[in-house]
Amino acid sequence: MRPEPITVIGLGPMGRAMAGALLRAGHPVTVFNRTGGRGDDLVRAGARRAATAADAVTASPVTILSLTDYPAMYDILRDVPAAAFAGRDLGEDPGLAQLLYQAQLDVFLTALSGLLHATALVTASGVPAADFLPEAMRTLTDIPGMVGGGAELARVVTAGEHPGELSTTLMMGATAAHVLRASAEAGVDRELPAAVRSHYDRAIEAGYGTSGWTALYEVIRAGPASVVVSSAGR
Ligand SMILES: NC(=O)c1ccc[n+]([C@@H]2O[C@H](COP(=O)([O-])OP(=O)(O)OC[C@H]3O[C@@H](n4cnc5c(N)ncnc54)[C@H](OP(=O)(O)O)[C@@H]3O)[C@@H](O)[C@H]2O)c1
Repeated sequence: MRPEPITVIGLGPMGRAMAGALLRAGHPVTVFNRTGGRGDDLVRAGARRAATAADAVTASPVTILSLTDYPAMYDILRDVPAAAFAGRDLGEDPGLAQLLYQAQLDVFLTALSGLLHATALVTASGVPAADFLPEAMRTLTDIPGMVGGGAELARVVTAGEHPGELSTTLMMGATAAHVLRASAEAGVDRELPAAVRSHYDRAIEAGYGTSGWTALYEVIRAGPASVVVSSAGR
């Protein structure tokens, strides 16, 4: 089957990388960028450059917008007549695609802040970042081995079962308090460990102390914090 034609609008680092990957995968690729002169390498590699955003959208059944932010998206789409989208199937709830993307970024950005917070914590005590970060990256990749795979996690959160045989929310909450206290002593930012500690405090307060750490899910989905984080470690 011949790969589907795809349009990429926005040729920043991400748009260029995606267009290049699509070309290498054999897709006919059309590109458009607000500012001319970007993407010459893609055109040399076989992409077609559209003259306008409307031309780009109509060139392919699938259009990827790779832009800085939402205002940029509206700036681009303002110049595209509605007729250019005629017959496109956006699915029953097109907002879900964006929501799932935001959820992935939630995981990604929180992990990145955790990495940098931990790095600041050790460097405040004179440990070089180079001694710490390779080990920290290993911790990130070890997480599925420690907490189980996605299917198992999905099973327990869906069932509302939070077995605490291997580790309890009380024990993990004490660990979170240690991180918060260490952060205070090192003089680095405390917002992130305080937020984590708050999840455990509220889970314990709600009666999940002897349950497993996945009980935090019940606290998080219940909405904004109604219990102020305890003063321990602050
Ligand atoms: N770069 C990454 O590592 C990375 C990783 C994951 C996700 N992403 C996501 O991918 C998207 C693009 O990232 P990027 O790094 O390529 O972004 P970028 O460097 O900010 O460039 C994005 C594009 O947006 C265009 N643009 C900005 N404002 C505009 C406006 N008002 N009207 C029309 N076009 C406008 C720029 O056009 P001009 O050339 O004319 O300025 C450029 O082509 C972002 O949503 C980002 O969150 C990026």
